[in-house]
Amino acid sequence: MQLSFAKSSFAVVGCGKLGSALAGQLVKAGYRPEGFASRSRSSAEKAARAANIDRFGTIPWEITVSADIVFITTPDDSISDTCKEIAKNNGFKNNSIVMHCSGSLPSTILSVSESLAVATGSMHPLQSFAAITKGTNPFEGINIAVEGESSAVEKAKEIARNLNANSFTIKTDAKTLYHASAVVASNYLVTLQGMAFKLIEAAGISPDDAFNVLGPLIEGTVSNIKKTGIKDALTGPIVRGDMETVKEHIKEISEKTPELVHLYKILGIYTVKVAEDKGSLSESASRQLRTILTIS
Ligand SMILES: NC(=O)c1ccc[n+]([C@@H]2O[C@H](COP(=O)([O-])OP(=O)(O)OC[C@H]3O[C@@H](n4cnc5c(N)ncnc54)[C@H](OP(=O)(O)O)[C@@H]3O)[C@@H](O)[C@H]2O)c1
Repeated sequence: MQLSFAKSSFAVVGCGKLGSALAGQLVKAGYRPEGFASRSRSSAEKAARAANIDRFGTIPWEITVSADIVFITTPDDSISDTCKEIAKNNGFKNNSIVMHCSGSLPSTILSVSESLAVATGSMHPLQSFAAITKGTNPFEGINIAVEGESSAVEKAKEIARNLNANSFTIKTDAKTLYHASAVVASNYLVTLQGMAFKLIEAAGISPDDAFNVLGPLIEGTVSNIKKTGIKDALTGPIVRGDMETVKEHIKEISEKTPELVHLYKILGIYTVKVAEDKGSLSESASRQLRTILTIS
């Protein structure tokens, strides 16, 4: 029974970073590519060639009409309109599944018509597809958040398994907060490291050496979070209550990289909260730190 599921056919609309990566791994996992559509013919053709088929174009419904699963992997803002256009042009096969891969949008944006016999869902791979190493499976071991109508959720879970990924269900109305968390974990981590690099460069370390110098600290911290959890992974002047060190940081940052002082203070205030939760700060140390870190 499982085997017939694994042979579902699929079409991809929006052949960018995710759509192309997903298609490549679906083919490897035994799913049958029906065709590829994208805004530009060249993107659709590239994805089709990689999947070893010659059905591609810029008119989605001509490609999607025979597929068991339709993935709409356009930018988030075009997903709903693309789905509506496909439905308007009878581009969904009866009992097919349509899914998008957005982290923030719910699957309900795909529910374009009650009379349509199509199950809607979303499967969001919690991974950044900025740089994919050729020949590797970027879904290997990652987590995929799924939600939607039950047959779409079952299909998404099956796909996750076949891509060697893990899946978990998320409430449809919780997607925005779930995605905000992913943005902080990934995008803001990049921003934060950019800030750290800027500070170390101001301290005289060359940009080329910044990652070599900070890399082991970054990786060690992530590893500590994994081993001990957030509270116990926190070290440094705030959790120790070293007021003078924090004051000196603020003084120097204000002089050398003033554009970063605001952010340093805001993150510091939140770090005081983590230290309080850990129970390592006295009430008076907390109060003093909050005063030092207040944005005037
Ligand atoms: N990249 C990631 O790391 C990542 C991770 C998780 C989830 N996602 C989700 O995956 C989806 C796609 O993101 P992405 O990063 O792959 O974006 P992307 O690289 O910009 O790819 C989007 C593709 O859709 C095509 N396109 C744009 N508008 C279209 C339309 N109206 N009709 C048909 N095709 C259209 C684009 O144009 P051309 O045909 O001109 O190339 C492009 O190839 C989004 O929902 C995003 O939230 C992305």
